[in-house]
Amino acid sequence: MAAGTQSQSSKRKASSKSKSNPGITKTGKASMQPDDGVSDLMRDHRKVEELFKQYEATEDDGGKEKLVAQISLELKIHMQLEEEVFYPASRDFVDEQDTVNEAIVEHQSAKDLMAELAGMKPSDEFYDAKVKVLQEMIEHHVGEEEEEYFPEVRRSEMDLKAVGEQMASLRESLMGEMGARPN
Ligand SMILES: [Fe+2]
Ligand SMILES: [Fe+2]
Repeated sequence: MAAGTQSQSSKRKASSKSKSNPGITKTGKASMQPDDGVSDLMRDHRKVEELFKQYEATEDDGGKEKLVAQISLELKIHMQLEEEVFYPASRDFVDEQDTVNEAIVEHQSAKDLMAELAGMKPSDEFYDAKVKVLQEMIEHHVGEEEEEYFPEVRRSEMDLKAVGEQMASLRESLMGEMGARPN
């Protein structure tokens, strides 16, 4: 009889043969599911993408500065949630530690660029270029999270609801500290 023969090492991974993988699209991307940590993170991704689009359509310096401040605030909170809760919690559920390590390094590059932008004015020669490079960096990073990292975590037995709850409470305190308005 085959039952009970699952090896110790495969215990953490949900069966790869399951007919439907909730939370993963046919093309293997992570999809929205109600009330879990991955969906919360994906909502942030969509919000930041929208803000970058608004930036592209904005001509005046005041509007640009406001959008960059908003993008930076959203990204700072989002990255902190990932770095303090989601990334450490998911280390045990990914095959390669580099999945997590590379994400952290990519965050750092984005933070460096945001720090440079914070010290600049929209009228500066390279302002738009730096915002564009930040946007492309974030698009690349979000693509890797949603096409590889998140689907891998979704296929595992990580408790995404519990992680979502931890992130929600950290989000609330960070937003209070940083003076962010709720969504
Ligand atoms: Fe993310
Ligand atoms: Fe990230």
